[in-house]
Amino acid sequence: MTDKKPDTTARRAILVAVVLIFVAATGWFQLRHFIDQGHEIAQPLPGVQIGGPFTLTDHNGERVTDETYRGKYLLVYFGYTFCPDVCPTELTIIVDALDRIGPLADKIQPILITVDPARDTAEALKPYVAAFHPRLVGLTGTEEEIASVARSYRAYYARADEEGDKETYLVDHSALTYLMGPDGEFLTTFSYGSPAETVAKGLRKFIQN
Ligand code: NI
Repeated sequence: MTDKKPDTTARRAILVAVVLIFVAATGWFQLRHFIDQGHEIAQPLPGVQIGGPFTLTDHNGERVTDETYRGKYLLVYFGYTFCPDVCPTELTIIVDALDRIGPLADKIQPILITVDPARDTAEALKPYVAAFHPRLVGLTGTEEEIASVARSYRAYYARADEEGDKETYLVDHSALTYLMGPDGEFLTTFSYGSPAETVAKGLRKFIQN
């Protein structure tokens, strides 16, 4: 009887070790998964206020506010013209989705709000937005104005290399596309890389209803 006790203890110890390793590994994979998704923040929680009043400058140098676009659905994307990959990809998807929904697209104002106002002046934004879509509006502003509008949309951005080159630095940013209603109300988001047809389906759903 007594010689079986150490055996049970050893087994128990092994079992505990296995469970601990499993828990640690699971935690590690979840952490990696979370880090890997760095460019795409999770869907906003229900009940969290998204959007709100803003005053910015459009790509023609005109001062605009959220009121300027009342009566239109807004597709709002935060990005910057120097973005090497994420922004061009997402803006292409937005334009593709607009093409897919035909005349319904006329009810939508697509907007790019820069997270890099230092380089993205109105003059810099103008040819950039025109290259994607004739109706895409580019918005810029002071550092404070951009910080304020990003905060109200729960959008994240930060210069990647504070010490880096003044001309070629990158800006990390979340890459959600926000659909706002005609009264400025938040409707939904599309996560980065959603296929154009998925975005088109979402737009049809919200705009036809
Ligand atoms: Ni980008």
